[in-house]
Amino acid sequence: MQDYIDKMAPMFRPNILEMGEYAPPLEGRSGGYGLHDFNERTTEPHPLVLQRIDDFVRSGKVRVYPEYGRMDAAVAGYAGVAPGQIICTNGSDQAIDVIFRGIAGNGDVAVVPSPSFAMFYQSAGVQGARILAPRYAGPELEYPYEEVYESLEQRPKLVLMCTPNNPTGRAVDKAKAEEIIKEAGRREIAVLIDEAYHEFNPKGTLIDLTAYPNVFVTRTASKALGIASLRAGYAASAPDNIAQLRKIRGPYDVNMAAAAALTSLELPEVRDDIARYAAEVMARSKPVVEEFYRRKGVRFYPSDANFHLVDFNGMPFSARDAYGFLRDERLLIRPRSDPPNTARISIGTMNDTDLFMDKFSKLLARYGQ
Ligand SMILES: Cc1ncc(COP(=O)(O)O)c(C=O)c1O
Repeated sequence: MQDYIDKMAPMFRPNILEMGEYAPPLEGRSGGYGLHDFNERTTEPHPLVLQRIDDFVRSGKVRVYPEYGRMDAAVAGYAGVAPGQIICTNGSDQAIDVIFRGIAGNGDVAVVPSPSFAMFYQSAGVQGARILAPRYAGPELEYPYEEVYESLEQRPKLVLMCTPNNPTGRAVDKAKAEEIIKEAGRREIAVLIDEAYHEFNPKGTLIDLTAYPNVFVTRTASKALGIASLRAGYAASAPDNIAQLRKIRGPYDVNMAAAAALTSLELPEVRDDIARYAAEVMARSKPVVEEFYRRKGVRFYPSDANFHLVDFNGMPFSARDAYGFLRDERLLIRPRSDPPNTARISIGTMNDTDLFMDKFSKLLARYGQ
């Protein structure tokens, strides 16, 4: 690798050569595993979502470039903002990326409270932005409000607020978040609020803070709506900010099957279905899983989302051991090295939960727990 870097350095920007690839373990997942590793919806989307995709495929218009008016209107209506405040993207990964590309240049500082979602680091890396990484800390792994507030002194270009945060699980406190946003605004610093999991924590949304001109909220269609394979997400912000982001996103980056699926957000049946799915996960499955963990002496961090960060320190086996055992049982979880020896474990429906507890009990029994 060093040979390659020495030889090819003139061709690639140094920050690209220095960064690593984000290569999540995706291969083979669709082959009959219980999927507790990527926080996706565990059931297929509502039939009316699939109907919109099917209607598009059968329309005889696959050869035509996409058009976005109805999608933008449906998404804006769902998010409760004006259509001019929305840009739809190829997954919310792309929303994050266009915001970084628009705002943080080479050598600029981005504040990314850590640990957090991998693509923040990737997008910062591509830009050559320098990351300041205050740590989530305390018994609930709370957002580091004070450190982030103080970091504004260093004139970052962008501050991240992932709420609820992946992988730690907690949402931010709105009043404390707003203090940071106001001070950042006074200093012309942008705040990116990632709400990938907002449907699982609907009361905690900060979407109305897009009234501040320095706030961007990103969201995804990959989780509660259930179309991760199609790659769709969006950003909401002030119309003038959205106009800037439109220059960066390609004119047809959202494919028309995804766009057709997003138009279904105009349907009350689809909105109800999303709320019902999220309620089953959060109000039924989550308390059952937590009761199970407590009963079995498994430590987990409190979460406002459809996953827990489980701590394997002090257990007679590691997070990687747990991953290996459960994979052989055809159930996938996501081991993590930060925080050390933890795993992020998604929560699904009651059916998924029953299966999960069955397999996790086998894991514990294997180690005499
Ligand atoms: C916090 C967070 N933001 C964004 C995303 C990306 O979502 P998408 O599939 O829309 O790119 C994820 C996916 O895991 C996530 O956890």
